[in-house]
Amino acid sequence: MSNSRCRAAILISGSGSNLQSFIDQVADGRLDLDLAIVISNRPDAFGLQRAAKANITNVCIEHAAFADRESFDREIANELDKQSVDLLILAGFMRILSPWFVKHYEGRILNIHPALLPAYPGLDTHQRVLDAGDSWHGSTVHFVTEELDGGPLILQGRLPLTADQNAKDLAARVQAIEHQIYPQAANLFANGELRFHNGKAVLGGTTLNAPIRRDFE
Ligand code: GRF
Repeated sequence: MSNSRCRAAILISGSGSNLQSFIDQVADGRLDLDLAIVISNRPDAFGLQRAAKANITNVCIEHAAFADRESFDREIANELDKQSVDLLILAGFMRILSPWFVKHYEGRILNIHPALLPAYPGLDTHQRVLDAGDSWHGSTVHFVTEELDGGPLILQGRLPLTADQNAKDLAARVQAIEHQIYPQAANLFANGELRFHNGKAVLGGTTLNAPIRRDFE
């Protein structure tokens, strides 16, 4: 990747609104990377249509067609390697990756999770945050390791909670934040400022002991 533009793959399972934010930001020059391929594990993922409309190579690999997790992952790797991908962006990809895959692409996989990690790993985060009566919620970009939602944290966008919110509205507000912070984090990787080293996120030569935080309304 040294002298050329970073080549990214985006892995999806559904709507692909985060994918769309990458497409839009590359198109208007805010984000400096090549979207080399979009891969979905579901044929009905709307994100595949978004990719096609933007003339991005798009492939569906249905996980159900494979005997086990690693064989599925090896087929994904096959497609990624054909495209000489430097960076993998998980954007609503609802499959747990095998240890083989995570090791193979160590330090090159990003994920976004709709909570202020390490709080609320797993599913149904918005309702859990509301039920707990928290004051803040948001989303986190992190490097992927074998631990689910557990890799080194990079960037968080957060918003204050008010009493009258419901999980649906909150999900929409958090997604609007994701559409800003995820391309921002990918840009840091693409321009070489962000790296994964010895199991930690390193930004501009400094190891991050806590994520960079951006506050939103
Ligand atoms: C996002 O909210 C992200 O936090 C989670 O999956 C969702 C994907 O949404 N990992 P979309 O498909 O990008 O609209």
